[in-house]
Amino acid sequence: MQTMTPIPMPTHQDTAHRVTVLNRHDRPFHVVLAQQFDRPTIDQLCQLADMIRTIGNARQGSQFLRTLLSHRRAMLYFIQPSTRTFLSFTAALQILGVPYSDVRDRSTSSEVKGESEDDTIRTFSQYFDMIIIRHPMEGFAEHVATMLNAMPRTIPVVNAGSGKDQHPTQALLDIYTLYRSFQEPSRTEPRYTRNVFAGKSIAFVGDLKRGRTVRSLAYLLCRYPGVRLVFVSPPELRIGDDILEYLTRHDIEYSLTDDLRDGLPEFDAIYMTRLQDEHDAAGESKKIDYYRYSLSYDMMQHGKPTLAILHPLPRRHELDEQLDTLPQAKYWQQVRNGMWMRAALTATIFNVDTAIRDHYHAYYTF
Ligand code: NCD
Repeated sequence: MQTMTPIPMPTHQDTAHRVTVLNRHDRPFHVVLAQQFDRPTIDQLCQLADMIRTIGNARQGSQFLRTLLSHRRAMLYFIQPSTRTFLSFTAALQILGVPYSDVRDRSTSSEVKGESEDDTIRTFSQYFDMIIIRHPMEGFAEHVATMLNAMPRTIPVVNAGSGKDQHPTQALLDIYTLYRSFQEPSRTEPRYTRNVFAGKSIAFVGDLKRGRTVRSLAYLLCRYPGVRLVFVSPPELRIGDDILEYLTRHDIEYSLTDDLRDGLPEFDAIYMTRLQDEHDAAGESKKIDYYRYSLSYDMMQHGKPTLAILHPLPRRHELDEQLDTLPQAKYWQQVRNGMWMRAALTATIFNVDTAIRDHYHAYYTF
């Protein structure tokens, strides 16, 4: 088994270059960084996810969707624990008729015979048309994308969570859920063009230092001027300065606090997160009173009736199960939204998004 050598993290100055390496024709080809997504791309993905949701509801529609990518194959290389994200991707692939295989345990791969992880992945790239990676090491998905760019056959790499760094597909489903929470369904107005985030306060609560979902979502929210972000965390688990710098550069207003109750009446959405103590080799987070970063049923009397509560899950005590039945609880819809969003993303990567739009307009608009 190979030991893991850390991959040096690129600096912010490189972001534009990194995006160029990952995109093709100004669209994400590999999906590795949330910074690859501009506003039109995010909005189109949300709209496409809605269309797939509608089309997939009927037998004929779901049969149409299953023909679109039945000639492609996907590989899931998930060597970090996962239930939701793994099943969400496999369900999304099933919607589009994409057969898939997976490796979830390195002890079953030739890595035990001394093969490098790079070679294992080069091998996958000969059998499959897409690789979806969840990996404990920051920067690994990006490294694979660059490596495959140099292969005679380059296939798209999708980052399904890279260490403490990023989780861009989670951020896309989060923004889709926020969009759906902030606006009334409308028959006359295209749903995903108006900036419903302007003037809204979104609080991120918990372990913001190591929670990759928050980092990726903060990047996406920079595309919506007028949004206000509040980072609520113990001082030891503050969001990274790299994110704060990025927000400043994009003129996004933000504040930092260690008190959840204080701002609660003002929030339009709360994004709860668990303590990421698997990264905590020295056990330092044992000293933190994480109960202060929990949301209870009783606290909801101080929140807006229209508040949207999100959580990437899995949850622990920070999100009281009693909240589940409230209209403000959006986290179970969030899970389902992930499946539609990942189907939309896969369709877009393989350029069948236009076929879906055409089908939708032919059969579902009156
Ligand atoms: C998150 C992750 O893996 O980063 N889960 C997920 O993908 N839905 C959040 C977490 O593990 O806390």
